[in-house]
Amino acid sequence: MRIVRAPEELRAACDSARAQGSRVAVVPTMGALHKGHATLVEEAARRASTVVVTIFVNPTQFGPNEDFAKYPRTLDADVEMAGAAGATMVFAPAVDAMYPAGDETRVRVGKTALALCGEHRPTHFEGVTTIVAKLFSLVGPSVACFGRKDYQQLRVITRMATDLFLPIEIVPVRTVREADGLALSSRNRYLREPDRTRAAAIPRGLTAAARSFAAGERSASALEAACRSIIEPSVDSIDYITVANADNVEPFAKDAHVPDRALLAVAVRVAGTRLIDNVVLGEEPAPLERAGEGAA
Ligand code: PAJ
Repeated sequence: MRIVRAPEELRAACDSARAQGSRVAVVPTMGALHKGHATLVEEAARRASTVVVTIFVNPTQFGPNEDFAKYPRTLDADVEMAGAAGATMVFAPAVDAMYPAGDETRVRVGKTALALCGEHRPTHFEGVTTIVAKLFSLVGPSVACFGRKDYQQLRVITRMATDLFLPIEIVPVRTVREADGLALSSRNRYLREPDRTRAAAIPRGLTAAARSFAAGERSASALEAACRSIIEPSVDSIDYITVANADNVEPFAKDAHVPDRALLAVAVRVAGTRLIDNVVLGEEPAPLERAGEGAA
């Protein structure tokens, strides 16, 4: 396992891997790795012989009052977990290596980044596209794996790859969950009991809506209400619970009849921690119909 700190060293290592005939995959992360990240690395290792895991807590995607400073940083454990999952290289740069003095260029996002998390974190996705574009440029991957857990991010990055003609296959990977359905997240480390238990209402709410959808419910407001009625009593606040177009994440009107494939996305706060989750109705099983599959 090679650990690389300098952007130019990463580029040289990836150039030489490609020159030797290796296909290169990248898995961008902010570290504090868990089984969800490991699943992305395993997927990447099935598709390429050089697998680069990037670990970088990216300041430009955090808002001024968000958790950039306290975001968990656990590099040694991350390197171990990445290697065990099949990574051949870890890239862990310093902030001023990725944003050197004079840096000012940003990758501007469009409509896909406006709704849902974009409404509550207005500068977030521009920070994500900018860092991911930098990482893509250094690595030159054929494949990049992203989790469905951050569904809007996945769609924004897929859109960027299309719009910028990037020759990179963006591979979506299923959400890994705890036994009670809670999606794995680095931010779950912030939760102590009884807050951790309260958070399990999220997958229960998604599952209730998914069951109602499976039984034929197609009213956007009824699906949102089925989800909300379970989540609301357990969490401190709700940023959104929204049924949206599964491709461009545009929310459906409350009185809309939703199609046979639609995104149900949730963002809530529990004890100061912001948690997001989703299910694509009509496309994947409800969270509690597959809980514990890979995590436990
Ligand atoms: P981070 O939150 O570390 O997530 C890295 C990748 O892991 C993302 O593609 C995310 O969707 C995926 N992931 C997180 N939890 C998951 C789970 N429970 N199951 C499956 N995949 C999961 O997302 C970011 O970092 C950053 O925004 C980044 C893309 C690295 C840019 O800074």
